[in-house]
Amino acid sequence: MQRILVPGRNGQVGWELLTALAPLGTVIGLDRSGMDLANPDSIRRAIRDAKPDVIVNAAAYNNVDRAESESALAMQVNGIAPGVMAEEAKRLGAILVHYSTDYVFDGERDQPYVEGDPPNPVNAYGKSKLAGERAVEAVGGHYLTLRTSWVYSARGSNFVLTVLRLAREKPELSVVDDQSGSPTWARALARATAELLRRKDLIARESGVYHLVAGGHTSRYAFARAIIDIMKEVSRIPDGWASVKPITTDQYPLPARRPPHPVTSTTKIRELFGIEMPRWEDQLRSCLSDIAASWRTGSTSLVLP
Ligand SMILES: NC(=O)c1ccc[n+]([C@@H]2O[C@H](COP(=O)([O-])OP(=O)(O)OC[C@H]3O[C@@H](n4cnc5c(N)ncnc54)[C@H](OP(=O)(O)O)[C@@H]3O)[C@@H](O)[C@H]2O)c1
Repeated sequence: MQRILVPGRNGQVGWELLTALAPLGTVIGLDRSGMDLANPDSIRRAIRDAKPDVIVNAAAYNNVDRAESESALAMQVNGIAPGVMAEEAKRLGAILVHYSTDYVFDGERDQPYVEGDPPNPVNAYGKSKLAGERAVEAVGGHYLTLRTSWVYSARGSNFVLTVLRLAREKPELSVVDDQSGSPTWARALARATAELLRRKDLIARESGVYHLVAGGHTSRYAFARAIIDIMKEVSRIPDGWASVKPITTDQYPLPARRPPHPVTSTTKIRELFGIEMPRWEDQLRSCLSDIAASWRTGSTSLVLP
């Protein structure tokens, strides 16, 4: 039975990995107390104790705005820690799966980016994630770095849950219409990761960076509208929802600059691994159906009407 170590077990993706990876082996999930990514000794100790065959790193410093003022910590967690994990994985002959982001691109062009396009991050978070990609690559072990986008789930803090909450509290939401991405459900990402790990022979031969996001792309504004429209339907609660108004990024200033259109092509992972994620609308409907079911059973009080 292979041993699969999952740092970041309480994050959106980490939580879903615990279930998705269970059929593949013994999954050992670690929270910050079991492995602190800001501390290389803690990383080395946790990996040497667990002796995994696979590490799936779901831990990251993900607060894009706060990273501007905590860039050293963001760099430690996102930029340096993945390299330490890669070294330890290589020492054990283990595979490392690591997640990165479409925010490594500046998003200034209107064609989808492929993996070989030059990155040019526009904020501290993107720079720290790019450093992590490079640190993993430099070690030269067996690895996959999966660049994903706009991750959400039924738990944690994310755009979907924020829109659902605010849409019940306010008459109108203003959402930027000049930024695009591919909203990706954490559960779909975890399932795709499990599929990839069924092909360890291929990972050994084809280690590298891959784009792995939901099919299609959309603007933040259209995403917010879809969240409300689909939730109206699946929750069977037709009334009491905010309307959504499109605004520009200039009208909603934030500490970190966002790349406007960092849309990525997923052709490489489809052609090499046969992996293709469902379209973003279908993933969203699945996640919202789960949330609506939990509203009905009262298992969460979040945004209960
Ligand atoms: N969320 C997105 O929109 C998005 C977009 C593109 C790429 N990604 C990438 O996808 C991956 C998974 O993201 P996610 O959304 O699942 O992340 P998440 O929900 O923010 O979870 C991140 C986890 O990392 C843990 N963590 C933070 N600092 C740590 C430290 N110093 N030591 C140990 N653990 C630490 C957090 O622990 P605590 O709970 O203790 O804070 C949390 O459990 C990440 O690599 C992320 O960069 C995410």
